[in-house]
Amino acid sequence: MTTRQHVIQQFSQQFDTHPPIIVRSPGRVNLIGEHTDYNDGFVLPMAINRATWIALRPREDDRVIVHSLDFEETLAFSLSDIRHEDAGWGEYLKGVAWALQEAGHSLRGWEGVLAGDVPIGAGLSSSAALELATARAFAAVSGFAWDATTMAKLGQRVENRWIGVQTGIMDQMIVANGHEGYAVLIDCRSLETKLAPLPAHTAAVILDTATRRGLVDSAYNERRAQCEAAAQYFGVAALRDVSPAQLEAASTELDALIYRRARHVVSENQRTLDALDAMHAGDAQRLGQLMNASHESLRDDYEVSSEALNTMVDVARAESVCYGARMTGAGFGGCAVALVEAASAGEFAERVSKRYQAATGLAPNIYVSTATNGAEIVAQQSGS
Ligand code: GLA
Repeated sequence: MTTRQHVIQQFSQQFDTHPPIIVRSPGRVNLIGEHTDYNDGFVLPMAINRATWIALRPREDDRVIVHSLDFEETLAFSLSDIRHEDAGWGEYLKGVAWALQEAGHSLRGWEGVLAGDVPIGAGLSSSAALELATARAFAAVSGFAWDATTMAKLGQRVENRWIGVQTGIMDQMIVANGHEGYAVLIDCRSLETKLAPLPAHTAAVILDTATRRGLVDSAYNERRAQCEAAAQYFGVAALRDVSPAQLEAASTELDALIYRRARHVVSENQRTLDALDAMHAGDAQRLGQLMNASHESLRDDYEVSSEALNTMVDVARAESVCYGARMTGAGFGGCAVALVEAASAGEFAERVSKRYQAATGLAPNIYVSTATNGAEIVAQQSGS
């Protein structure tokens, strides 16, 4: 049974009627442009075919009651009395309600069933998927217009202000702005987007190392602070404004560690723009080379990779059908992404799985993903 069927079935069982509204909100994988978003730079992610689903109906009062099939827990709260409680999945829903009301929306209550198949903590943005799914649910029952980028910013605000994690805008932007068949170049300063097709006959394969790292938050905040220090040295708003030549000229004067961190960001921004060109030219070789260079830079200059990620990337690259591979997301664990010949993607997944397992003793999860739409209403019965 698909996750979609599961939420529909469970809703129907619980409420004895078919759900009038069904929301789908995907996870994402970033092809290139890592740790650039909070430097006002460029990213090139795509929404994936794994998503959070909510089957719901409006309520007459201001209560929100949601049952999570994954956690086997029910969340219930009143829109006039939203409180911080714990750090669980429910905080994302409450945070979205809080942020929407703070933005001036008058909200209506709803009830429903929630489930997802975006792995949690794997670096595929299950939290952004949940935030945008919730925002979509509120928009559907409360009747306000949906603007993807406005809602992405709202999702980021939830992360930063309600959850307390200082993430950039990439995850919410792609989860809100994903487009079937395309990756999306996002300018994280202007929030302009450009569609970019994968080169013909290629596929993006997500390689989950089956490792998770608990200390990501502190390392992430430390990298952010180092980037801010570099921007301050150059007297600019963000590293986006520093050219490779400017950075090179400062190489002896700048603190060696800060220099390497900045070199990653400055070079990664250029690689991401080059990747957009390569995609428009349909040049899989070039795109693969850029992905490889991105990994090296994240591993050596930015130091956010891990042994498991490096092994996964090596194992993937050893396959002749692989154009390039790199870690993806914040790092320290989670997933890598590879660009491979589409016709051989299944075989590639099997071989990489075996070789990674032989090298590490860990059983990886491997998904061949198409690019999908961002958060959307997939069914809405009129009159509801
Ligand atoms: C996490 C954050 C994003 C981005 C990436 C690294 O996914 O949520 O904002 O900074 O790490 O590129």
